[in-house]
Amino acid sequence: MTLIDPNETHEKNCKHPHFTEILYRLAERYSCRDFDGSSIDPMELEEIIADGLQAPSSCNQQNWHFIVVADPERKKHAREISGGNHHFEYCSALIYLCFQKGWTHGNFSIVQSVAGACYHMMLSAHLRGYQCIWNAGIGDQDELRSFLKVPKNFEIQGALAIGKAKNSAPVIKAPRRPVNEVFSWEHFDRPSNATYPVIPADDYPYFEITNNVNPFAEWDPGNWSLAQIADFRGYAVWAKSPLANVYVSNRQGEAQSVEHSLLPTIRDGRALEIMPWGGTSTTALCKILGNKCKLSVAELSSHNLTFIRERLLQEGIALDNVSFELMPDGRLLHKNRTIDLVVIPQILEHLPDPERLLDEVARVLKKDGHLVVSSRNMASQYGKLWRDKESKAQIPNQGPFTPIEACELKNWISSRFEIEEELGIGRYPTGDATPLLNDDALHGRLYAVRARLK
Ligand SMILES: Cc1cc2nc3c(=O)[nH]c(=O)nc-3n(C[C@H](O)[C@H](O)[C@H](O)COP(=O)(O)O)c2cc1C
Repeated sequence: MTLIDPNETHEKNCKHPHFTEILYRLAERYSCRDFDGSSIDPMELEEIIADGLQAPSSCNQQNWHFIVVADPERKKHAREISGGNHHFEYCSALIYLCFQKGWTHGNFSIVQSVAGACYHMMLSAHLRGYQCIWNAGIGDQDELRSFLKVPKNFEIQGALAIGKAKNSAPVIKAPRRPVNEVFSWEHFDRPSNATYPVIPADDYPYFEITNNVNPFAEWDPGNWSLAQIADFRGYAVWAKSPLANVYVSNRQGEAQSVEHSLLPTIRDGRALEIMPWGGTSTTALCKILGNKCKLSVAELSSHNLTFIRERLLQEGIALDNVSFELMPDGRLLHKNRTIDLVVIPQILEHLPDPERLLDEVARVLKKDGHLVVSSRNMASQYGKLWRDKESKAQIPNQGPFTPIEACELKNWISSRFEIEEELGIGRYPTGDATPLLNDDALHGRLYAVRARLK
């Protein structure tokens, strides 16, 4: 396609007559992770790729290469290699983003170039009425290299999935930061809530940091402000779409049902769930509570609440009895003695001051109201794994946390409430959700309690 017609006079520095409309349309693009499995005309796919080639490239070398995978069996295999990206199987086509190694590595110029081409293809596909998602999570490089027959002097950076969204797929865009938060005139300037803490150091050399080993990751929420934690959790939850079953692992599912086995019998009244991040626990809780009582879901960021709301709809849960509320500065927006049940699922360890939240819970609970709380336990095999390995990696999308010793948490709870039942969950560091009783309760990977306000 020749975009510049030499016979047509182009007025330089002139606004396109429809630029606002075009930009508006482009801004409507959002990532789709739930495709209908239909196919795309190969000719149109080739046009989309050709559009991508209009992107700039470092030294104009265009050292990119794109491999289209559209065969259903091969898309399925691509999904298997990717691990978590189930949409690889159901999109119409995957366009693997590769580049030739050896030129313009400085400042990742070659990577920047491929990224530009990928985004141009995305916008082309979007304008043509398709949905897309850009994926870095493509899986093991060696497996992919043999699957796609990519030579060693080419790198595979990611894959663009293109297709038609299922009718039921959420039509929702991940929130954007306010523009004045992410740019400054002339000098660096960025608000403190959007600048996350790191371990103090003279320098932060890029190549010393990987996802699995990050010597500068600050895992102690005590060194984060609540505003920083809210900011981090509220944007990062959108790493996936609010689809049913998203953010559910088997391990979590089993541990969660053990946590929920501590719930008291509820006939009516008001329940409050605190900081469920992506709503996995909210989904299970709604199913247990049914329409017997009203549930408020409280989070630090409105972005989590939007996500959880759409998630519940996708899970087929009626919202008649569910409300959503913020926790300004970590406070609960409820009057004293108004709530019958508070649920805090593995959250205290994410807070700079966990006891402050327990004070808030003691304030809002009615007399004889219940608290069901769980926490990752430092005094467990999991605690050792966290100290030796997990805490050496980057901060997870749920935000920074430091497991709490079960004994300490037990003291905090018993100084405010009467413990009715306590459980350890999981003897082994991962994958185990066996309930542990009596003395063993203090040594499970999770410690969970049902308590009553005296
Ligand atoms: C470089 C890059 C890599 C990404 N990798 C993945 C991925 O592996 N899996 C996934 O589900 N989303 C992935 N995404 C999509 C982002 O999560 C998504 O763009 C972001 O949450 C903003 O949402 P939006 O695209 O709807 O505006 C990636 C996006 C980019 C730019």
